[in-house]
Amino acid sequence: MINPPYNASESRYDGTMTYERCGRSGLLLPRISLGLWQNFGDVNPLATSRDMLHFAFDHGITCFDLANNYGPSYGSAEETFGLIMKKSFAPYRDEMVITTKAGHDMWPGPYGDRGSRKYLMASLDQSLRRMNLDYIDIFYSHRFDPETPMEETLQALVDIVRRGKALYVGISKWPFEAAQFAYDYLKAHDTPCLIYQGRYNMIDRKVEESGILGQAADNGVGFTAFSPLEQGILTARYLDGIPEGSRATKNRFLTADRITPELVSRIRQLNEIAAQRGQSLAQMALSWLLKDSRVTSVIIGSSSVGQLSDSLGCLRNLSFSSDELSAINDILLPQKPE
Ligand SMILES: NC(=O)c1ccc[n+]([C@@H]2O[C@H](COP(=O)([O-])OP(=O)(O)OC[C@H]3O[C@@H](n4cnc5c(N)ncnc54)[C@H](OP(=O)(O)O)[C@@H]3O)[C@@H](O)[C@H]2O)c1
Repeated sequence: MINPPYNASESRYDGTMTYERCGRSGLLLPRISLGLWQNFGDVNPLATSRDMLHFAFDHGITCFDLANNYGPSYGSAEETFGLIMKKSFAPYRDEMVITTKAGHDMWPGPYGDRGSRKYLMASLDQSLRRMNLDYIDIFYSHRFDPETPMEETLQALVDIVRRGKALYVGISKWPFEAAQFAYDYLKAHDTPCLIYQGRYNMIDRKVEESGILGQAADNGVGFTAFSPLEQGILTARYLDGIPEGSRATKNRFLTADRITPELVSRIRQLNEIAAQRGQSLAQMALSWLLKDSRVTSVIIGSSSVGQLSDSLGCLRNLSFSSDELSAINDILLPQKPE
């Protein structure tokens, strides 16, 4: 059957989604972005990927987060997005912030990994072709490469913007001191860093402890949190065992041995707090991040429209009482000796 043409919902900006300024920039980002790391590759049904992308945009999600090697297979999430870009989203291109990255392994040989100018420049050209785009909104250095001079990686980002291939640049997973070097370098070269992308959720608080989160704010750089649901652990997904088809059955990034009875018992306690707040656990985990205005956006993953719809519901309640916050900390944080 031929699919009817896509018309974006007229209510997509009806106030359900809110938008936050990204650092000291002119760009507003939706509090919830959609990431295509998993579930949008050529191993996944195209119709499901398409439905999730349509649903997201119809509900005010204007930011789509990609990288060269998202799939599986590598490159195929960008191809999926490119197909939907061509068939559905082309009229709405100027309503979207589309991101991609290079920094992890992508193609064989010495030029398809890490932080060289050679790799970043070639990779972005490939990404643009796969996505059917003339330019990308945000191009990220996907990770810090200690073996490449920082100036080389950063100058490549500057030149990518100067050539009009990206509007803004960001960094992901750079450690504290390197991130400060990047902020200073990019600012001095008239290409201020727009955004830092880091792993952050109720369980993984390293960006708080290392100062990365505060540092971004101090430098006028936005912050976007990836894996906000700890890949599904911070949801009801694993409360009654490991369901067939869940991420813990599928890949090396979340293995079943992480889902221990001890962890499940903590998640069950969190689930009770969420229920008392009138939220699903996924919603509470996202609200917990978004209560902090330094978190410009959270990048959620999703394997169905139902999950996406549930997650979006977090926006209805972003405030926490101090009792709720300390109850969450008591469940998750290691107890310090008296
Ligand atoms: N910069 C980086 O290095 C980096 C690294 C990782 C991710 N990211 C970005 O961050 C994005 C999100 O990462 P992530 O996929 O790990 O995020 P996540 O939101 O922590 O996990 C997503 C997974 O949680 C489950 N889930 C989502 N919503 C749910 C709901 N409402 N109820 C129950 N389960 C739910 C699904 O698992 P099932 O699949 O089991 O259904 C889904 O695949 C990526 O797509 C990517 O754009 C960036």
